[in-house]
This record gives sequence, structure tokens and C-alpha cells, in this order.
Amino acid sequence: MKPAILLVGTAAAAAAAVDSVLARMASSYIQRPVRQSWGYDEATLYFGLQASLLHTQDEAVVAWLRNQIDAVVLGDGSIKDFNHTYYSLDNYRIANNYLWWYERTGEDKFKIAADSIRAQLNRHPRTPLGGFWHRQPNYPNQMWLDGIFMADNFYAKWTSLFDADNTTAWDDIVGQYDLIDSRTHRLSSNLRVHGYDESKVAVWADDFDGRSPLVWSRALGWYAVSLVDLLGDFPKTHPGYERLLGYFQSVGNGLKRSIDDGGWWLVMDFPGRDRNYLESSASAMFTYALLKGVRLGYLPASYQATADKAFETLVDRWVTENEDGTLNWEGTVEVGSLNSNASFEYYVSVPIQQNDHRGGGAFLLAAYEAEVRSKQD
Ligand SMILES: *[C@@H]1O[C@H](CO)[C@@H](O)[C@H](O)[C@H]1NC(C)=O
Ligand SMILES: *[C@@H]1O[C@H](CO)[C@@H](O)[C@H](O)[C@H]1NC(C)=O
Ligand SMILES: *[C@@H]1O[C@H](CO)[C@@H](O)[C@H](O)[C@H]1NC(C)=O
Repeated sequence: MKPAILLVGTAAAAAAAVDSVLARMASSYIQRPVRQSWGYDEATLYFGLQASLLHTQDEAVVAWLRNQIDAVVLGDGSIKDFNHTYYSLDNYRIANNYLWWYERTGEDKFKIAADSIRAQLNRHPRTPLGGFWHRQPNYPNQMWLDGIFMADNFYAKWTSLFDADNTTAWDDIVGQYDLIDSRTHRLSSNLRVHGYDESKVAVWADDFDGRSPLVWSRALGWYAVSLVDLLGDFPKTHPGYERLLGYFQSVGNGLKRSIDDGGWWLVMDFPGRDRNYLESSASAMFTYALLKGVRLGYLPASYQATADKAFETLVDRWVTENEDGTLNWEGTVEVGSLNSNASFEYYVSVPIQQNDHRGGGAFLLAAYEAEVRSKQD
């Protein structure tokens, strides 16, 4: 789709916001059935839809979100079909949505639900160095970049709202980033590999520090989004703040160096290799992180052109239109897991799906930032 409407960058563009690709994509997603679950994929879509509301104030989106979450958070604040002794970071991400609803409505049930996830974090199993396991029992002693997005933004948001003086919690949060960054940072490119196994027993773990071999773009996308959002919630007076900013700037540098034809490769180690391709969910997450990073001054203004080009590519390459006027989001890989041999062959063997919630959610975030930008000019 041609991105013309959005990049006009005038007051007229602002006036046209109701018809923007952001509004249209949000409205398209709520016209399709979405599982009423606490899964992180739904949570990512809801996160994007919530961002869209900052521009559109579309009451139909609010009502739809409410209907979705009421099926998950019951009247007494319990979470439907949720197992509080099954420790999977993926299942914590949606607690950000509980907090969003609590801040919006003040209803106790959302606070109760959020608190139950916060309490679960205190019991979540950890590596010897203190990192949250990606999942018990499946991934002992493993930290994945994905898990940082799943758990630590909620941990920080909850702490900022209800426990801001708890230095132990802030130390623990920054500690998660310190640990995974030190183990996954590839110094030559400033990219990060997918994860590491502190016990070094996974088939993919290297003998020296347990790291997985390749840079899978969506995992790095989760990490980039997590960092850019965390910087808004993490106390600037805490000594860890500068380190977090440094990780984000380093990732930003890696992204600026690795953008190719406006997007980013699925397996970032092998640009252009046969069966590799530019992947849409990671490209959307990187675009959001870069646009927001420049807007908030975390990244130099010299990154703006890269971010703008990336957004134009998202719309051009991965937004398609149906005859009824609804929009689709294309080109998102279904999954990429370290429950695999973590090889190039594995990552490229996973199918692509249309209207994926993680890809679409990330696109809404990027489109939100692009609209902020178009109004600034
Ligand atoms: C919750 O998960 C734990 C760990 O997998 C399992 O042992 C337990 O049986 C589950 N409980 C329910 C009610 O499914
Ligand atoms: C502060 O945070 C730590 C780390 O998460 C937690 O163990 C502790 O219970 C919290 N303290 C209070 C008073 O909530
Ligand atoms: C890794 O797994 C993929 C399938 O996911 C397979 O095609 C490939 O041969 C495996 N590689 C090794 C070295 O086992």
C-alpha cells in the first residue's frame, strides 16, 4: 500500500488522522475474531490498539478491548483458566493490559489480577545469577530476549505505580537486562543473539557462555521495544538507568547498521542468504523503537531518516487492502523458539502468517509513532 497519507506531515495529515493507516488497521483487527485469552500474542495486539486510541479515540476499539478483557479477568479479579504455579514469562505480558484498564477505570478487579502476576514473579524460578527462567519446566536456566519483553516491562510498570521506593525491585529489574545483555551482545554488530543457557546444556548453547548461535530478528525486536518503553518507567536517578540507555543506544546502532532495503532480515546474521527474507513483525518493532527513541532523544536525530524509511517500507510492503476496505498485515513469521536446534534452517523453515497479532500489534505501535511524527513537522 502507498504510504502517502501519512507522510504528508502537515496539519491536513493530522485532520485526516481518522482515516489514517493506524485507524484503519486498528478497526480492521477488531472486525476479525480474536481468541479471548491471556496469551502474549493477544496482549501485543491489545498494546498496539491501546496506542492507536491516543490518536483515534475510537470508542468501538475501547468497547471491543473491554469485551475481550472481561472474558479474561473475571469479576473477582481472578484470571480465567490461568495457572499460577505454571511459570512461563510469556503469560505475564498481558498484565500490562490489566494495569492499563486499572488506570483507566480504577476497577479493583484489574488491580487484583495485576497483583497476582506481580506476586507470581516473586516465586518465578531463576538462574544461579538471578535471571528469570524463560519457562518452568521447559527451559531451565535459559533467558531469551523475548522474556524480557514478556515480564520486565510489567515488573517495572507495576513497581513505578505501587512500589516506587523498592530499590530491591529496581535493582532486580535492571539486573535482568544486565545479565541478558552481557550474554547475548554481539560486539561486532551491536545485535543480540536470541538467548543463552546459563547451564550450557541446551543443544544450541555454546561452551563458553551458553549463548545461542544466531540473531533472530523478532527476539531482538521484543528487546528493543522493551528497552525503549522501559526507559519511560525506570527511575532516572537509579544508577542502572544509564546502563539501560546504553543498551538501547547500542541496539539502535546495530539496527541502523543492519537495515536493508527499508527492512530487517529474519535471521540477521545472513542478509540475502537463500530462504532468508525481510520479516515484518521485527521490522515493525524496530521501526517503533527507532521512531520513539529519536522522538524522546534516546537516539541521535541522525537516526530519523532510517526510522522514516523503515516506516514507509512497513506500509508499502506489508499492508494490503481487501475489497471491503479493511487492511491486512502480511509477512509475519509464526514463531521462533529456542525449543529447537536454533539453526538457520530451523528459523527459515517456520511458516509466515497473515494478520498475526504480534506483527499487527507492533505495526500499530509504529504507526502511532509515525502519526506523532507527522504532527510534529
Ligand atoms: C499448573 O501447572 C503446574 C506446573 O506445570 C502443574 O503441575 C499443575 O498440575 C497445574 N495445575 C493445574 C490446575 O492445571
Ligand atoms: C520489593 O521487591 C522485591 C523484589 O521483587 C520483593 O521481593 C519484595 O517483596 C518487595 N518489597 C515489598 C515491601 O514489597
Ligand atoms: C535443525 O533443525 C532443522 C529443522 O528445524 C533441520 O532442518 C536441520 O537439519 C537441523 N540441523 C541440525 C544440525 O541438526
